Amino acid sequence: MILSTYHTIQSVFCCCCCCTVQKRAMRTKMDLDPDTGLVTQYSASQPDVSYASAWKHRRKRQLQLKNKPLPPLPAEALEDYTKNPRVIALYDFFARGPSDLPLKKSEEYIILEQYDPHWWKARDQHGNEGLIPSNYVTENKKSNLEIYEWYCKNINRSQAELLLRQKSKEGTFVVRDSSQQGLLTLSMYSRIKGSHSGDIRHYQIKKNHLGQYYVAEKYLFSSVPELIEYHQHNAAGLITRLRHPVGSAGYSSPATAGFSY
Ligand SMILES: *[C@@H]1O[C@H](CO)[C@@H](O)[C@H](O)[C@H]1NC(C)=O
Repeated sequence: MILSTYHTIQSVFCCCCCCTVQKRAMRTKMDLDPDTGLVTQYSASQPDVSYASAWKHRRKRQLQLKNKPLPPLPAEALEDYTKNPRVIALYDFFARGPSDLPLKKSEEYIILEQYDPHWWKARDQHGNEGLIPSNYVTENKKSNLEIYEWYCKNINRSQAELLLRQKSKEGTFVVRDSSQQGLLTLSMYSRIKGSHSGDIRHYQIKKNHLGQYYVAEKYLFSSVPELIEYHQHNAAGLITRLRHPVGSAGYSSPATAGFSY
């Protein structure tokens, strides 16, 4: 929404009067949203407050014009990114040239073009566009385990134990790929009461004939993220409930391949 606002303002300055009317239609649609958010967020990212006041002023006029029938919108007036892939940054990325787009871990980006396997053209939430290394992002889908903080793809049992012991807090956990192809293992740390040493358990996440996932047989879930979320609130058969995820957070960002320009 904020993106669109930005664009609208830009175009208002450069378009003919016909265009201006068409843009108003776009803002009428945006009235459905809480507009206070729009104004404050805009002025927060743009120290030039005249934008915000200009916006308010225009909105007033637009309200007066609301009942006027509007011409159909040209397709390009509403930039539609709904079909573009959305990704989540797994690591921070610092731009190394003017064509690069910096990435902030856990934020969402829209992929505009996949020029080559290593560098993609992306757009951030503020409308900035540039090239990003494709191995720093992952598809933002609920079924994609890589978006979850507790998932660590490429670690084995001993690395998982090391990660858990580094944190040594009751209920520290990580989900990793099992040594058995296609299966996942939940590794967790629990402190034995009255002792200094911790206990590490590895539970295989199993799947029954109905395709439901479980660690403790009585508790079945249609997906692994649902299973984890449940056990974050209930031990339900585990030594303790899942409290502190350790995932890729402890790892440094990977090397980028090739050149962005
Ligand atoms: C686990 O991975 C590490 C690093 O890749 C490796 O050094 C170690 O030998 C592996 N351990 C086992 C048991 O495969």
